Amino acid sequence: MERGKFITLEGGEGAGKSTNAQWIADYLRAKGKTVLVTREPGGTEVAEAIRGVLLSPELPGMNSDTELLLMFAARNEHLQKKILPALGQGTWVICDRFTDATYAYQGYGRGISLQRIAELETWVQGDLCPDYVILFDLDVATGMARAQARGQADRFEQEHADFFARIRNGYQARAEAAPARYPQIDAGQTLEQVRAQLEQLLERILTTEEVA
Ligand code: TMP
Repeated sequence: MERGKFITLEGGEGAGKSTNAQWIADYLRAKGKTVLVTREPGGTEVAEAIRGVLLSPELPGMNSDTELLLMFAARNEHLQKKILPALGQGTWVICDRFTDATYAYQGYGRGISLQRIAELETWVQGDLCPDYVILFDLDVATGMARAQARGQADRFEQEHADFFARIRNGYQARAEAAPARYPQIDAGQTLEQVRAQLEQLLERILTTEEVA
């Protein structure tokens, strides 16, 4: 059985990843693919419980390495129980955030060495990495305003603009290193324009897959 494609959605706060995840899945289903939509941190019972700890505004003083290890603990659970079995059955997996978020938030944002993150990545993932990382790029002020409008801020959303600026730069640095694998969406556009851009991108991915 041919392995499914693994597509992750990334970007700062309020960039519209979650809003578009289901739409992307529906688009691919209409093209005949079996699709699973999931998210990180989370996606399984244990990983969602870890998410609760990671995002809780009641736990403000968490050590950065603890945060990093919890992200990878949740990821290991998610990979073993959900993502790898699905890909193995030929299902396409759309994951709202994955390891690029760890590089952006814990690496560029918190200042943990990228080498240390790479070591955990190899341990937990082996050589598995997303086939495509769709990066929703948005200026920091707009993203923060959108996230604030959603209601009570989680532990990450309570951070300041300079934290989110480092995250945006981190995502850009990763995209620049491998642009073909990191297609970018201008998330400052209207939803209609974002969807038009996504449609073009998904058609390109589907065509590339047919040729391969
Ligand atoms: P979200 O699902 O609303 O995007 O919230 C998840 C939060 O967790 C978001 O602020 C980004 C953060 N995060 C990390 O810091 N590192 C990670 O590896 C992942 C997956 C998420």
